[in-house]
This record gives sequence, C-alpha cells and structure tokens, in this order.
Amino acid sequence: DPWFAAALVVGYVFGSIPFGLLLTRLAGLGDIRAVGSGNIGATNVLRTGRKDLALATLILDSGKAGFACLLFAALASPTAGLIAGGAAFFGHCFPVWLKFQGGKGVATFLGVLLAAFWPVGVLTCLVWLGMALLMRMSSLAALTAALAAPLLAYAFGQEAVAVLALFLAVLLYWRHKDNIGRILSGDEPKIGAKKA
Ligand code: G3P
Repeated sequence: DPWFAAALVVGYVFGSIPFGLLLTRLAGLGDIRAVGSGNIGATNVLRTGRKDLALATLILDSGKAGFACLLFAALASPTAGLIAGGAAFFGHCFPVWLKFQGGKGVATFLGVLLAAFWPVGVLTCLVWLGMALLMRMSSLAALTAALAAPLLAYAFGQEAVAVLALFLAVLLYWRHKDNIGRILSGDEPKIGAKKA
C-alpha cells in the first residue's frame, strides 16, 4: 500500500521536528540539551523556568504526532493513521537532524492516542496527571501512563491501537532507562525542581 509508505515518511518527518529545542533556541536560552536532564521535551524545557515554552512544547510535540495520525486516517485509512502516528513517535525519539538523539516520546505518545481513539487518550492523560500529582515525577507519571495505555485500548476493544500503544510503550521505556535508574536510586528530580 503506497499510503503506508507515505504515512511512514511523512509521519517520521513531522515527528522529528524538535519543538523544545527550536523554541528554547528562538527564545535565546541556548541549547536545551545542556540543561537539566539534557532532554528536548516539555519537562526539561520547564527546568529553564519558562512555563509558557514548556506548555508550547507539550502542545506542539503532541500536535505533530496527532496531526500526522489524523491526516493519514482522513486521507487513507485508520491503519495508515496509526502508522503515521507511530512513525511520528519514532521520528521524535530518533530524529535524523539531531544524529538520532531525540526525546523520550511522552507528548507524542499522548498525541497519537488522542488522535487514534480519544477516550483512551484522555484516560491515559488522566493517569499521567494523577501520578504526576501523587508522586511529583514526570518520568514516573509517563511510565505509568505508558503501561496503562495498551490495557485501556484493549479494554475498549481497540486492538490495533492496543498493539501500537504496546510497541510505543516499549520504546518509551527504553528512552527512559536513565530516568528508571534515577527513580530506583531515589535521585529522580521532582517536577518544578530546576536540576536533574
Ligand atoms: O516522562 C517525562 C520525561 O520526558 C522526563 O523528562 O527531562 O525529566 O528526563 P526528563
């Protein structure tokens, strides 16, 4: 199916736009990769003290993946939409422009789920929020939400979404391996702290 190939390529290119890096650079804050955890995502942008840029990063990183998913679902098929969303997640985590050193995929994961089947997306966001409020660790909230998402999708009878969510959750865990180490050793910074 040529649509699947197009979804892979376009999804990857969309996903690989590093909004956190671009916004902080445009704001004159230097290289976000030299701040905190070194990640290009919204959580680390927040460590610059710029809540507005962190929110914009969250919205744009989620939006690029959600948009890719919705675009190909509308142009071709729901499966093409899922492929585009998955490719956007992959592009965010492994962008060719940054020598494949991208983000951890939390915002893009949520964007794909919201676009693919919004009830699961909303519930997964709520799991993230609940854990974030309870434990005050962005990474732990994301790891919990990533575990919940495939189960939620399966419970809603969305098997294709469940398979994609499971695959993306494995990648998300892999991208959080340093965070997992810090959580286990008690060194993971709390949300709002400036250092990582
Ligand atoms: O799960 C959020 C994740 O992106 C954590 O980011 O910067 O704390 O490693 P960071």
